[in-house]
Amino acid sequence: NLILHSSKMLGVLIPDLRNPFFSSFIHGIQEYCRDATYMPMVFSANHDVKLETYYLGKLLEHSVDGLIIASASITAEAIDKLVKPLQVPYLLFDQNQIANLADRIEVDDYNGGLLAGQHLTELGHQKMAILLPANSTINVRERLRGFKAAIKQAGLPADNLTEIHADFSMKAGYEATQKVLDSNVSAVFCADDILAIGLYRGLNERGLHVPGDLSIIGYDDIDLDQYVYPRLTTIAQPVVEIGRESARLLVNRLEKPDIDRQLIKFPVKLVQRESTSVKK
Ligand code: RIB
Repeated sequence: NLILHSSKMLGVLIPDLRNPFFSSFIHGIQEYCRDATYMPMVFSANHDVKLETYYLGKLLEHSVDGLIIASASITAEAIDKLVKPLQVPYLLFDQNQIANLADRIEVDDYNGGLLAGQHLTELGHQKMAILLPANSTINVRERLRGFKAAIKQAGLPADNLTEIHADFSMKAGYEATQKVLDSNVSAVFCADDILAIGLYRGLNERGLHVPGDLSIIGYDDIDLDQYVYPRLTTIAQPVVEIGRESARLLVNRLEKPDIDRQLIKFPVKLVQRESTSVKK
């Protein structure tokens, strides 16, 4: 009986605690949990499958009532093997397991990529680069697919886009600077904001200006975007609300175990600031 054995704890697994996107996600979860008198227990797995599996096991040992899994490297099989036998309900966010029938929160990543691409092509950019991790999760690959669609819509050849691989970190964005410059583009789409912030530093060190020398658009709309110079144009995901809704759906599942699968899809929007401008 779920109620009798309730620990009133929710396990939360995220890929990277240092990324402000996930701090905001947890902020939302915590807000909902406080009202619902649940307690979130958060682990960050550093994009490492072994760690994800380890923490998942630890959370289950502590008899969490349910799990929010926002960490993407762990496979559907691993989740099933660990979680299913214990019958602990879970909700997925930012996941690879499209076929998995668990409750899920999705964001319109394809449209996010499309909006970013349309914004840059409307500004007259023709040669562009995208920064994204080498083994991107499905949600991030959707951003790429949307971006490519915008390039096609603008009548530009597909090879006008250079793909540059960089993990989701400021350091990786910084370290990708030379590759970006070598690609000879006038605009860059960073598949998350912290990549853009790293790239800002690399450009700054070389005396280059955003957006005069290079237009940059990010993804996420973390709070920092409004405090870097120039303020970063980005695609916003309503991440605090996503966190809140994740917790709400999971608690709803705990209270009503037999309801149909819950699926919420969030929209994204372009937030135009000063890091993108007309191609000179
Ligand atoms: O910044 C982290 C990124 O990884 C976000 O865009 C989020 O959606 C995740 O997939």
